[in-house]
Amino acid sequence: MGLIIAIDGPAAAGKGTLARRLAAHFGLPYLDTGLLYRATGRRVLDAGGEPADPPTAEAAARALQPDDLSRSDLRGPQADSAASAVASIPGVRAALLDFQRSFGTERGAVLDGRDIGTIVFPAAKAKLFVTASAEARGQRRWLELQAKGIDADLAEVTAQVRVRDQQDRDRTAAPLVPAADALTLDTTALDADAAFACALDLLRAHRGLG
Ligand code: CDP
Repeated sequence: MGLIIAIDGPAAAGKGTLARRLAAHFGLPYLDTGLLYRATGRRVLDAGGEPADPPTAEAAARALQPDDLSRSDLRGPQADSAASAVASIPGVRAALLDFQRSFGTERGAVLDGRDIGTIVFPAAKAKLFVTASAEARGQRRWLELQAKGIDADLAEVTAQVRVRDQQDRDRTAAPLVPAADALTLDTTALDADAAFACALDLLRAHRGLG
């Protein structure tokens, strides 16, 4: 099996930006696993269903098609909360597991999500748990929305980030928790360049990766 780099952490901690840069650096494919849950939630909403309903959500996860992952409506408050709702359902997680494992197995990969180092690739050579204060993460998510021309309230966005984290941490199916052998990277005071440099330092020092 190729090199697997697992990147987990709470919402808007900077996992995606970091994962993309690490993938380019190590010449590995990248999978944003959040898209699988977002696209599942979207399918349920499209059909007028309830994302928290297990049979409906599981059927949507099983019916997922590659094109679903490139939809333009996978971000924003409604998509965020539908993703988190379907993600707490064990049948949904089971339906999405094989795809994630086969994506990484042959050539290696960088994957980001909530359970990559704990469930999807527990034997990954390198695991990073990326965090930041809730205020910093709320601010980042708010700036992303602004950049898309979506006018949102900062306090509300931060509150939504906290609610989703709580839901992701408290669920029984693959809760958001650092793997025992994960290296922690707090990006509260780091911009994207500094976070990338710190991640490379950690991987070099603790996992011998160049
Ligand atoms: O980009 P952001 O950090 O806000 O979220 P995301 O990584 O796209 O994930 C959206 C939601 O999908 C999360 O709140 C989780 O509930 C769920 N998720 C998960 O349960 N497991 C993963 N491996 C990835 C995402």
